[in-house]
Amino acid sequence: MTQTKRLPIGILGSGKGSNCRAILERIQSGDLAAEARLVVSDVLDAPILDLAREFGVANAYLPPGRFRTRLEPEREEQLVQMLRDAGVELVVLAGFMRVLHEPMLKAFPRGIINIHPSLLPKFPGLEAWKQALTAGETATGCTVHYVDEQIDHGKILAQKEVIILPNDTAESLHARIQELEHDLYPSIIGEFCKKYNESKKQVGS
Ligand code: GRF
Repeated sequence: MTQTKRLPIGILGSGKGSNCRAILERIQSGDLAAEARLVVSDVLDAPILDLAREFGVANAYLPPGRFRTRLEPEREEQLVQMLRDAGVELVVLAGFMRVLHEPMLKAFPRGIINIHPSLLPKFPGLEAWKQALTAGETATGCTVHYVDEQIDHGKILAQKEVIILPNDTAESLHARIQELEHDLYPSIIGEFCKKYNESKKQVGS
């Protein structure tokens, strides 16, 4: 019997980590053929680091340096090294609030994905659900996409729509989007896992 090869992933986040939890739960239950090798945060006390500890996943705080929206280049190089040392093949952004640049993009071509709470290309940037509400949209949703050098941009891999209800508040809408995110993200990571497993079978390793 051939054993399923599990895709080694690294998760980056700055906040509460509910997407990270959804991913780690699916791995734990055996639904997702991935292996979380490392969780990294640019925020020292981010709940996502506690979550990693709860699931027994290696984790690290990466001091971001003096910029607000990006990592200092040396720090980004350090991040590349940490992920490489951990053997990560897919980098999963789960609420990581910094834009990645050349070191990471070059090290992981077509190997970094993100989830965003809108139907991109509409409403990139912060609090996208509020932007959709304010714009009077009747529907919004979430998008999983490859990461490039622009904010919330890059080839779209999948989207799910959420209808905006007349009595929706920013909070109620955000909660429904997040519920969908927690299904969509693991299922798209699952696609990467399938491809990884196929590629491993072909080389017979
Ligand atoms: C998610 O809504 C995601 O779309 C956005 O950041 C949020 C992270 O939430 N990129 P969480 O930390 O996973 O709960």
